[in-house]
Amino acid sequence: MSTNKESWGTRVGLILAMAGNAVGLGNFLRFPVQAVQNGGGAFIIPYLISFLLMGIPLLWVEWSMGRFGGKFGDHSTPFILDNMTKKRLWKYFGIFGIFTNMGVMAYYTYIESWTLTYTIKSLKGDFLGMGIDDVGRFFDSYVDLGSGINLPGWGLLAFVVTLTLNIYILSRGLSGGIEKVAKIAMPLLIVFGAFLAVIAITLGDTGQCTDCNSHVGLNFLWQPQFDTLANPKVWLAAAGQIFFTLSVGMGTIHCYASYVKSKDDIALNAMSAGWMNGFVEIVLGASVVIPIAVGYLGLDWVKENAGFMMAFKTMPYLFDQFGSVMAILAGVAWFGLLFFAGITSSLAMGTPWMGFVEDEFDWSRNKAAFTLGLVILVLALPTILFFEKGVFDEYDYWTGTVSLVVFALAEVILFAWVFGMDKGWKEITGGADMKVPIVFKYIIKYVTPLFIAVIFITSLFKPLNGDLSDWTQAFSQLSSGEGWPWANDSIINQVFHLNTGIEWFNADGATDMFYVDMSRFLLILTFVGLGVMIKIASNRRKRLATNKVEA
Ligand code: TRP
Repeated sequence: MSTNKESWGTRVGLILAMAGNAVGLGNFLRFPVQAVQNGGGAFIIPYLISFLLMGIPLLWVEWSMGRFGGKFGDHSTPFILDNMTKKRLWKYFGIFGIFTNMGVMAYYTYIESWTLTYTIKSLKGDFLGMGIDDVGRFFDSYVDLGSGINLPGWGLLAFVVTLTLNIYILSRGLSGGIEKVAKIAMPLLIVFGAFLAVIAITLGDTGQCTDCNSHVGLNFLWQPQFDTLANPKVWLAAAGQIFFTLSVGMGTIHCYASYVKSKDDIALNAMSAGWMNGFVEIVLGASVVIPIAVGYLGLDWVKENAGFMMAFKTMPYLFDQFGSVMAILAGVAWFGLLFFAGITSSLAMGTPWMGFVEDEFDWSRNKAAFTLGLVILVLALPTILFFEKGVFDEYDYWTGTVSLVVFALAEVILFAWVFGMDKGWKEITGGADMKVPIVFKYIIKYVTPLFIAVIFITSLFKPLNGDLSDWTQAFSQLSSGEGWPWANDSIINQVFHLNTGIEWFNADGATDMFYVDMSRFLLILTFVGLGVMIKIASNRRKRLATNKVEA
């Protein structure tokens, strides 16, 4: 369909780019926190099962859908889906495959810009000698633009620099931009990660408190526990992490895979990238923040304070315990690693939009990159300016969590049931450099869709904290006529604000909910806007097709 002739330079480059897409902030910041909040070793079994029954199948499905679409010159989900079926409505599910990426890119690039700032500050030795409260205060004032730390608006500036860098690299194309970055960033990331893991593992007992021992932290994460296997909350968290970390259910993989040649292997490529991500997550991701924090602050402190921000609010202080030279080295390694992990992922998130507008509207790469930058800037501003009102979390909830499940469910049904599993299996195994176990044909057809459907329904109706006992309590409340006790993060409560009611203004002016709902409105607008663009593109295709016939 398009005149877009781009492709990957080398197989190594492709795999590194794909691994770079998957390996991201999710591996180092999200995974350890999810693990701690869900009982450490209790998390790991549902996580591995989700990887096997949902992650791997989705990787194969998405890689093969992408390569399939590429044969027709399609590089973004709307028309990749469109080619797989005669039903014209499916392409609108493809909105998700562009929308999710843009929504996530907005807040993700913002975190990426923190890592840039922190790398520079670590290098300059700015954190040396700071107490834990000072580091925390620095972070708080950094994200609170109103307070203006030494340099007002520094956070915004760092964001603009980070975004510009992303856009510049994207404008250089796949082999000239993304692949080059991945070839440098990925090896460095592994080296930095290994360096930090060695520090953490050899740290051992620091004597700061009774259980201040990095091995206590490692044990907590690693020792499998079976008693929580029946807890739906842990399963939801584990499945959510698999989605986010593998970048499945987002349209990014389809886009990358659409640039491979039609006879190229995808089965083994998908596994290489997927397992590399797993290694970085389980081995490196688990070996840095948590063990070091437990080493100095103890397990109880970590359990209580585990959060995404720990990496920024606590790590510089912990590194300082190593002495100033090591503190600088570790700080640069840690935040540099996060920056590399982040940028190889945010670049990937930019590509579906670019593929879409290049294919459908014949925009040049520069124009595609530039417009992407503008849209991301507009989407990101609310998360930056109103960070403390919860806008950031709102983006993460819809675009980084819910959308992925919805899209994955749709695509796996399309693939296995509409396109058909026999054809699908040929797509997966065609050109494969490995033997794909036949059992996955049945897993993809039956198990994966069911698995995702259960995840989706469970997140719609999640009660209280989502633990098993909460579910039983919820059902008994329901039958005794007291109604369903919605969890705050259940999808239905999020949509209707059932627990709190809608309050946009109170005596003090606009409430946090006002900011959050306005940002939600912006996301909806983006979604609808993309839908309109797809409609226009589809009309344009029809016109071009009839012109061709007439000529
Ligand atoms: N997998 C990445 C991580 O672990 C995140 C990511 C990459 C992503 N591409 C994406 C998230 C597209 C949403 C959409 O950090």
